[in-house]
Order: sequence, then structure tokens, then C-alpha cells
Amino acid sequence: MQQRTVLEILEEKGKINVCAPMVRYSKLPFRELVRQYNCDVVYTPMILADVFKSSEFARETDFSTNARDDPVVIQFAANNGADLADAAELASPYVSGIGKYWIMLLSVDINCGCPQKWAIQEKIGAHLMSQPETVRDMIRTVKARLNIPCSIKIRVHPDLKETYEFVKRAESVGVDYITVHGRTKTMKNTEPANYDAIRFVKESASVPIVANGSVFSTADANEIYAKTNVDGVMSARGLLRNPALFAGYDYTPWECIERYIHLAVGYGTNHFIFHHHLMFMFEDVMSNSERKTFNTLASIPAILDHLETNWGLDVSRLV
Ligand SMILES: Cc1cc2nc3c(=O)[nH]c(=O)nc-3n(C[C@H](O)[C@H](O)[C@H](O)COP(=O)(O)O)c2cc1C
Repeated sequence: MQQRTVLEILEEKGKINVCAPMVRYSKLPFRELVRQYNCDVVYTPMILADVFKSSEFARETDFSTNARDDPVVIQFAANNGADLADAAELASPYVSGIGKYWIMLLSVDINCGCPQKWAIQEKIGAHLMSQPETVRDMIRTVKARLNIPCSIKIRVHPDLKETYEFVKRAESVGVDYITVHGRTKTMKNTEPANYDAIRFVKESASVPIVANGSVFSTADANEIYAKTNVDGVMSARGLLRNPALFAGYDYTPWECIERYIHLAVGYGTNHFIFHHHLMFMFEDVMSNSERKTFNTLASIPAILDHLETNWGLDVSRLV
């Protein structure tokens, strides 16, 4: 299989559809699913670089991959270049737990957006938005030690001059592209994203910019392209609800749910994550009373039974 970097895909396609990093959710089965529906680039969930580098158990559980998981961007949370580069080195090349594929790590991303209290205390995630020098050093270290693209996923500052400085510092050490979540670190996901701020970053940056924030349909994506002129759009909650959104579906098609079940059962998935994914995908179509019943299903076989009885799932096709 020919592997291409995110930058090569950008060059070839002009614009890219990206599945966001999502803790618990953007794991191997989901990554494979969204690729079947027009996602060009897919992120792993955020992985803690210091834990990944020091624990073999973490490496086995946090990152599984295979030859179809391509192109994948592995996102790390780190607060220093050494941890980040050590973790990235350990992930590349990586033998997946599933087969014996040697996967080359194609791209590494630094999380500068996680706003959670524990992350700020660990000086990772959104804490880094006030530490442009640290982020610059991390990019420089990774680029010096590994010959791979390195991107950052940032939020915007209340004062866009700070965002401008942040971006320029990252560019000065060769950041390859930047994803901009159009919300500040104190804004909730329910608040509208600031696309003017994303356009400002796009106009001032010399590297490709991916826009993130409230992409729930291809119409949203097109509107963001028109407003910001970015090089790609990234969706998180939209893809959880409808993994087929970049293929133009307004609601999750049943066939997509079946494919997810097939992939999740085939790869093996924890019951809670399996349940959550299905709840997200059924959000627009399941009645309140069915949802109550669905929430009580305590195992994967119970969920499969329910879907076989109520939705005509053909369980025989899963084996
Ligand atoms: C369940 C969930 C998990 C997330 N995990 C991560 C993560 O691991 N790394 C990260 O940079 N952002 C993470 N985010 C933030 C999203 O990547 C994205 O920036 C945010 O949800 C805004 O995009 P949206 O409006 O399309 O949801 C997560 C968001 C959600 C909803």
C-alpha cells in the first residue's frame, strides 16, 4: 500500500475532510468507519506522551493500528519536546496488536486545546496556548529527531494578536499545518465557533490551515470554506452523530451503523464505548422510550439482540 502524508493529500485534493481527535472515540474501528465515508485524514484520540513512553501497557492499549489505518495522525499531549519525541519515536514504526503490519507513523500532532482542569494542571492541552515558546521547542525537537510532519491543534485567544504570534513562532520552526478550533479555551462547545478568527489565522499563516468547530453537515463545511478559505475542515461531534456526514448524508444511514457494529465487534471494543457510539448515531432517530430501554443494555450481546429484534440487524453477517 502506498502511504501518503497529510501534506501530500492536501496537495492532491486541495481541501481535506478531517475526523477530529476524540478521547475514547476516535479509535481504530471508528477511524476505519469514517474513512469509508469520505474522511481523508483521521486522528487518534489524545495520547499522553509521558505515559506512552514509559509504559508498554499504555502503548498496547492506547494505540492500535493496521495497514488500513492510513493516513492516521497520532495526537500527543505533552509539555516538553523530549517526552513528545520519545513517544513519537516509539510509535514509528509500530507493530499493531491486531496483525503484524509495520506502520510508519505519518504525522504527529500536539494537543494545545484540551481545556480540562487536570490537563491545565499537567501543563498540557490548552495550558500551552499561553506557552508559545514551549510549543515552538516541542515542534523543533520532533522535527529534528523524526523526519515526519508535525502539526498543532490550537484554540484562538481572546486577543487575536496572541494567536498571530503563536502561529508565527510555530511556523518559524517548521510546523507543517495547523488546526484552529474557533473557540477560546474558556468557551463551551455549545457556543458558536468564531469563523472570523479562523479566517484571520488563515490570512496571516503561510502553512495550510484546517478549521474546526461545529461542522455537522457538508453544508456547514461549505459555509466554513466560503467564510474562511481554509484548506480543510475537521469535525468531532458531527462525526460522532453521523459518521457519514462527509459523504453528504444528513443522518446516519442504517448501513453505516451496521458497518460500525461489524468493525467494532470484529476488532473488539469495550461495551461502554460501543454503547456510546451507537447512542450518538441513533440520537436523531431513536424515540425517548426506546432510548430508556437502550440505556439499560449492559453488554454487547444484549445490544446486538436489541438491534436484531427492533432494527432488523442481521447478526449472522457479523460472524
Ligand atoms: C468526546 C470528545 C473527545 C475529544 N477529545 C479530544 C482529543 O483527544 N484531542 C483534542 O485535541 N480535542 C478533543 N476534543 C475536541 C474536538 O477535537 C474538537 O476540537 C471540538 O469538539 C470542537 O469540534 P466540534 O464542534 O466539531 O465538536 C474532543 C471532543 C469531544 C466531543
